Amino acid sequence: MKVLFVCLGNICRSPTAEGVFRHKLRAAGLEHRVQVDSAGTGDWHVGKAPDSRTRQAALRRGYDLSAQRARQVEAADFQRFDLILAMDQSNLRNLQALRPAEARADLDLYLRRYELALDEVPDPYYGGDEGFEQVLDLIEQASDALLNEIKGRL
Ligand code: 4NP
Repeated sequence: MKVLFVCLGNICRSPTAEGVFRHKLRAAGLEHRVQVDSAGTGDWHVGKAPDSRTRQAALRRGYDLSAQRARQVEAADFQRFDLILAMDQSNLRNLQALRPAEARADLDLYLRRYELALDEVPDPYYGGDEGFEQVLDLIEQASDALLNEIKGRL
């Protein structure tokens, strides 16, 4: 099973989703059964580590994102992955436009899939520190729900 998380820059929300979910997979002993990656719809930050505010907020909760590097999503990802989860509606629209007709991947909005309080993970890039905490709060909840779904599918 292969899961890809997608946001705009691949330096804030989707790297957080990748790191938190990988941590939960390891805790559940499932890290060898599920592959996880993240990507951005934009290419501005390709090759860069996650934003320092994202890394620091994640590290305070025990998630080390320092080895991750940004990349841009590509059409081939729709063949490589089983599930592609977008952080917001704009990411989802961009992914729908990129999706090849013969796509293998199931494409969905991450929070909406699990009927959480919000449908979208708000972009924290131009805001204050509380935005990065909210990203983690939402993604931790969604990760638990995704782990439950995957346990049922394996
Ligand atoms: P992300 O946040 O999509 O969660 O990685 C952003 C990062 C960078 C930009 C926008 C959003 N930017 O405009 O450079």
